[in-house]
Amino acid sequence: MSPTSPAGSPPDVGVVVPAAGRGERAGAGEPKQFRAIGGVPMLLRSIRPFASHPRVAEIVVVLPALWARKPPAWLAGVAGGRLRVVSGGDSRTVSVLNGVAALSPACRVVLVHDAARPFVSVETIDAVIHAASDGHGAIAAIPVSDTLKRADATGQLVAETVDRAGVWRAQTPQGFPRSQIEAGYQHWRDHGAVPDVTDDAALVEAAGFPVRLVPDRATNIKVTTADDFVIAEALAGQ
Ligand code: C5P
Repeated sequence: MSPTSPAGSPPDVGVVVPAAGRGERAGAGEPKQFRAIGGVPMLLRSIRPFASHPRVAEIVVVLPALWARKPPAWLAGVAGGRLRVVSGGDSRTVSVLNGVAALSPACRVVLVHDAARPFVSVETIDAVIHAASDGHGAIAAIPVSDTLKRADATGQLVAETVDRAGVWRAQTPQGFPRSQIEAGYQHWRDHGAVPDVTDDAALVEAAGFPVRLVPDRATNIKVTTADDFVIAEALAGQ
């Protein structure tokens, strides 16, 4: 199946954008996902490549409850009637769950993309959609190139060097056949409770589904700290 727009097939990809974090690591001020990078709110930059993608049927943005009741005005124009806003939860996992639940049944493929990644490429989105449309979970990821150390209990001394062979950093977007991401959450509900995981593939993996690695670009950074904003401004200026 073509990664872009197969002739005659209606858009069937639902995108969930978790943006309900408090962003405290970025410092004081408004939620970091609303802060401008190169004059454009970070969340808007993160949504735009999906809003213009021919396979995307719906985008659900998950905001803190206060903001979900009165979303920023600049959100309204980005994807027209295809964009919906819902409230998040105390953890990223709950926020994504709320977003998936808000997608219409027409969305057979679900993509999750963090609001904190404003520089995702169309090539990465295409590759993740392609894999998920073929029936496979897929995550944007980058092989680790640094040497890895594990700290001891004090957090100040090296306890050991960790073998980096075969280790990848998981990024977003992450894409899944809808039945698999829903089964991922259900698997954990059956085992008591859905744990607070830092990515969605972890739930799908635990339910026994294979997840493919899609090599991503290093420019798809996650903007978390004040230093990340400095890097993001430089990327936006390119
Ligand atoms: O906290 P972390 O950097 O891992 O958050 C990743 C993404 O998940 C961010 O876009 C953040 O806004 C979102 N998030 C959320 N609901 C939470 C916590 C984080 O939607 N309760």
